[in-house]
Amino acid sequence: MDEIVGLCKRRGFIFQTSEIYGGINGFFDYGPLGVELRRNIKDAWWKDMVHLRDDVVGLDSAIIMHSDVWKASGHVDSFTDPMVDCKESKMRYRADHLFYSPVRVDGQEIGCVSLLESEKMESEAEELAQAMKRKLAVQGELEPLELKPYTEAPEEDWAKVPSPATGEAGSLTPPREFNMMFKTHVGALQDASSVAYLRPETAQGIFANFKNVVDTGRVKMPFGIAQVGKAFRNEITPRNFIFRSREFEQMEIEYFIPPDEDIWERYHREWIDTRKGWFASIGLTGEHLGEEVHPRDKLAHYARACTDITFKFPFGEQELEGIAARGNYDLMQHQQASGKPLEFFDEARKEKYVPHVIEPSLGVDRTFLAVVCAAYTKDEIDGEPRTVLKLHPRVAPVKAGVFPLMKNKPELMEKARGLYEKLRRRWNVFFDASGAIGRRYRRMDEIGTPFGITVDFDSLEDGTVTLRDRDTTKQERVGEDELIAAMEERIGW
Ligand code: GAP
Repeated sequence: MDEIVGLCKRRGFIFQTSEIYGGINGFFDYGPLGVELRRNIKDAWWKDMVHLRDDVVGLDSAIIMHSDVWKASGHVDSFTDPMVDCKESKMRYRADHLFYSPVRVDGQEIGCVSLLESEKMESEAEELAQAMKRKLAVQGELEPLELKPYTEAPEEDWAKVPSPATGEAGSLTPPREFNMMFKTHVGALQDASSVAYLRPETAQGIFANFKNVVDTGRVKMPFGIAQVGKAFRNEITPRNFIFRSREFEQMEIEYFIPPDEDIWERYHREWIDTRKGWFASIGLTGEHLGEEVHPRDKLAHYARACTDITFKFPFGEQELEGIAARGNYDLMQHQQASGKPLEFFDEARKEKYVPHVIEPSLGVDRTFLAVVCAAYTKDEIDGEPRTVLKLHPRVAPVKAGVFPLMKNKPELMEKARGLYEKLRRRWNVFFDASGAIGRRYRRMDEIGTPFGITVDFDSLEDGTVTLRDRDTTKQERVGEDELIAAMEERIGW
């Protein structure tokens, strides 16, 4: 993971925000290459989920909405995470990410170990327990540990659990609920009546506009409303680079379906498959992905089902996208709170109802991270080590590098420049005339540019160029006229 973070910074994909002032945890800036990759991910999503579907329309709602929206949706009361503070170190943890276990030797409890959730926490906890046993010079058999989250600790255990920051017991507070919405005020008066929130999800903007879209959009059931936009969550412990941040972007669809009991499962499954197909179209195939079905007893009270599409990140397999069957909870809540009817008149059935909804909800930044992790490769070319991002051409920030073979030959420069001008009307391409051609290829490989196009002396004679494939490094000669078609076929649009 450190190598990927290093590459993202070194090559201008992602920077810590306000870095010159020491940064601020959980916020990131996207550099020249990052912004291109990000746009390509969003464009690919919008193209496939909105433009290429007859049953989905788009929306762009405001980040700040009436605060009653968040009361009705339940976010004011229950958009919380359990938090625990260490009074000594002033560190703050998510209580459900902090695990602990009593340490017992031959039936005798000699203390507790605690650590933050990770793939390796079982073995790390075992090492901590062995170290405790050695330090206390206790003889006997260490019993198997029973790790559980701090949220499940009975009150009498709170004082026994050591802080991960200090290793000492007695400084952790009891777990308490912390609302993750960022609060602000609208207008000059800073009182209760002016309180507003930065939206923690784009979904509520869709529900609040349901009637507007139905009244103006000529939609037929079933149909979806899609939105891409910023969301803000005051995460207690932002972590794993851009995986969990405090400002991020979501791509969400609310797909409205009739309320019949026997149909939502089919639509839910269809959306899981559709979304997996889309991931494959940007290079995230079956080997990278998994599915995690939320157990019934862990579902939000309004949800009928939720399946996460997971990705195998270097720090473990984690949620990439959540696909929830939300029933008609949100529309009913807004209908009741606003007093405005949010029913749909189904022309085909000659019937009015509040539709149910299937919600595929994905983070742009999390997709970015998954795409870069899946693409990051180290290999060897002619005995030389190479770092290459094998990005799908569809999302690659730069589609091609255009190289005149030699910088000091005006006729090569002119021809290459002409080709570059032609290609840049269509794609983001890069002109590079400096350094040995091999080094120019390597620079492009490291940022995931799928094609290298070299203009050489033969190009002046017969109008052909060499087209180099980043992954195989194979080169073929193609006519200038065939070039666009060859690239288009592999980029996919
Ligand atoms: N409207 C439903 C909703 O927001 P969620 O599971 O809380 O559901 C959906 O979020 C997706 O948004 C996640 O699967 C993830 O891709 C992304 N996401 C959520 N919180 C995030 C965070 N703090 N940082 C980056 N991405 C996040």
